[in-house]
Amino acid sequence: MANCLTELGFKILNVITRAKTNQPPNLSCRYFTHNSEFIIWARKSKKISHYFDYQLMKEMNGQKQMTDVWHLPAIAPWEKTCTKHPTQKPLALLTRIILASTRPNDWILDPFAGSSTTGIAANLFGRRYLGVEQESDFLDLSKARRTEIEQLDIVSTYREKIFKQLSRQSNGYNYEPLTDAMQLNDEVSDYNISALPF
Ligand SMILES: C[S@@+](CC[C@H](N)C(=O)[O-])C[C@H]1O[C@@H](n2cnc3c(N)ncnc32)[C@H](O)[C@@H]1O
Repeated sequence: MANCLTELGFKILNVITRAKTNQPPNLSCRYFTHNSEFIIWARKSKKISHYFDYQLMKEMNGQKQMTDVWHLPAIAPWEKTCTKHPTQKPLALLTRIILASTRPNDWILDPFAGSSTTGIAANLFGRRYLGVEQESDFLDLSKARRTEIEQLDIVSTYREKIFKQLSRQSNGYNYEPLTDAMQLNDEVSDYNISALPF
C-alpha cells in the first residue's frame, strides 16, 4: 500500500504501528499472537504541507514526544451500544488520528465508513464528517451512533472515556486540561453519510 501511494506521488509521513493492550489469546498456540495493525499517514503532494498538532500529542503522552508505536486497548463494550460493525475500530484510535492531523471544524472524509467511527470521533471533537458506505445496514448503524451522540450527557461520557484511554495514567497525567486545548463546545458538528448509488 505504501509503495502504491508513493508511485501515485503521495509523500509517506509515518507508518504507525497500532498494538492492542488487551488482545484476546490465540487459541491454537502454534504461532505468535497477531497483535498489530499499520496506519499509513501520507499527504497528497510533496509540495503542500500537512498539519500536525505536535504539542497536543506531546501533552497527551506525558510531555514526551509521541512515537509511531501506539499501545491502545481493543474496542470496549461501551462502544458497541448500537450493535457492532465486524471490523469496528476503537474511538480512541480514530480520535488520536483526528486530533493529531486536523483542526477544529475541518472536514474529514472516510470513503469506507463502516459504522462511522471516524465520524463519531470527528463530531465528538468538533470536526465535520462525510462518510461513504455501500452496505445499508452499516449506514443505519452509523445513523444510530450519530443519533446517540445528540445526547449531551453521552457526548461528555464518551469524551471522558476516550481521554482516559488516550492519556498515560501511569505517569499521573491528568487529561482534563485537554478540554481547553481542543476548544471543545457542547455542540456536535455536521455529519453526512452517503450511500453509493449501486
Ligand atoms: C474496514 S470497514 C470500516 C470500519 C470502520 N472504520 C468502523 O470503525 O466501523 C470497511 C467498510 O468499507 C465498506 N466498503 C468496501 N468497499 C466499499 C466501496 N467500494 N464503497 C463504499 N464502501 C465500501 C465495507 O462495506 C465496510 O463496511
